Amino acid sequence: MRREEPAYLLLKNQLIALTGLVFYADRDELLTEVIDGRIAALGLHDYSTYIKFLKGGEKGSAELDRLIARLTIGETYFFRDHDQFSAIRNVILPDILKRRQAAKELRIWSAGCATGAEPYSLAIMLARDFADRLDGWQICIYGSDLNRSYLAQAEEGKFRPWALRSASDEMKHECFSKEGLHWTIHPRYKQWISFHQLNLAAGEFAGPFSEGTDFDLILCRNVMIYFAPEANHKLVAQFQRSLAVGGWLVVGASEYNLVHDTDFRTVNVPGAKLYQKLAQAALPAAEYAIPPPLEAPAQPITALPVRAASDIEGLRRLADRGDWQSAAEYGHQLLTHERLNPAIHFYQALIFENLGRAEESERSLRQAIYLDRTFVMAHYHLGLTLSRGQKSLAASRSFKNVIKILADLSEDATIAAGSGISAGGLKELAEMHLKDSSYQAVNR
Ligand SMILES: C[S@@+](CC[C@H](N)C(=O)[O-])C[C@H]1O[C@@H](n2cnc3c(N)ncnc32)[C@H](O)[C@@H]1O
Repeated sequence: MRREEPAYLLLKNQLIALTGLVFYADRDELLTEVIDGRIAALGLHDYSTYIKFLKGGEKGSAELDRLIARLTIGETYFFRDHDQFSAIRNVILPDILKRRQAAKELRIWSAGCATGAEPYSLAIMLARDFADRLDGWQICIYGSDLNRSYLAQAEEGKFRPWALRSASDEMKHECFSKEGLHWTIHPRYKQWISFHQLNLAAGEFAGPFSEGTDFDLILCRNVMIYFAPEANHKLVAQFQRSLAVGGWLVVGASEYNLVHDTDFRTVNVPGAKLYQKLAQAALPAAEYAIPPPLEAPAQPITALPVRAASDIEGLRRLADRGDWQSAAEYGHQLLTHERLNPAIHFYQALIFENLGRAEESERSLRQAIYLDRTFVMAHYHLGLTLSRGQKSLAASRSFKNVIKILADLSEDATIAAGSGISAGGLKELAEMHLKDSSYQAVNR
């Protein structure tokens, strides 16, 4: 069988159109390995007869499921991306619980959930960290995937140790029972969850996922990386329509640049970027226009340590849109007028970090701290920068500074330049990083 055969190209195009997995467009070797394997297993001899087989009633659709099961990539694990889960715990869930207080309903969707680690992680988090606030609430967590065999495994709730590599021993023993090598999730974490087959590439969502379901939180992480840009654009718009006003979208860290929809507010929290659906009226299109330099901002951000009416908001908006180069230039321009504004140095640091200019980022953070010793987010980011640069001892000092500064604040105080994070949330993150960097410092 040859890859140049028209029948192979037809099959390839049909599979990509059906699943959205444009990932295979230039991965013929991988694709033919899977298809040729299926053709051999069925005792067929070429691509044309396989296409006919796939079209043949029940047997054909069962074969299509088998083929899709081999084409999808289901890498997942519990609490994947610690920073995103901290943001869900510290920013998203408290916000939703406040907004849904009257209705006492909470609707979450994990789109592309694979074998279920993501929806189960959310159930564990809700049960462990929010139990006292959820009495009388109706909670629905939907997990959806294209691959039926992943969904069957998710229903079973049985996991290999590798899927639990980010969970503490304490959590494992509290939330799972161990049988041989496998860990089975406790039934109490299944009560809110239902699993559904849904093809995200198949146009409008149906059933519980349709427009107007008013989800409070949708996670679609590490799925869109396999799709084409136009498909992702449509998908993000569909998610936007399925969310309640004020609802949140979380995508994978490598997928941030795929969300352009202007109906989302971007919220940067330490280590993660979140998207919140706003009512059209609350976010006029002009909000996203590049602001003219050095004009007073339309809405001054009082929480920032701003010493003058500089356009920090404009700088932040450019950064939120991922337009890092323009943001760096704009920041440079602002600094020529206001060298002593710590907030500008801070945002410049985040921009440099995104541009991969680590040394300049560190320098800007130190400058921000020099200008304002209590600028806690600058200390926190300096800690992150130093630990990425393997400077564990110095990183530990920065995280200790964060904890020291926060000691004077109440737990629920909102942190300046922290995109909504509370003092309690930031303290928890700093303590976690402090533990990591102290561990590394001792073991290096
Ligand atoms: C890498 S996993 C991500 C799992 C989980 N979201 C995470 O981040 O840990 C990608 C998942 O997307 C699913 N997927 C791929 N194409 C899909 C489609 N067209 N519709 C729905 N799910 C799809 C795959 O089956 C797979 O389970």
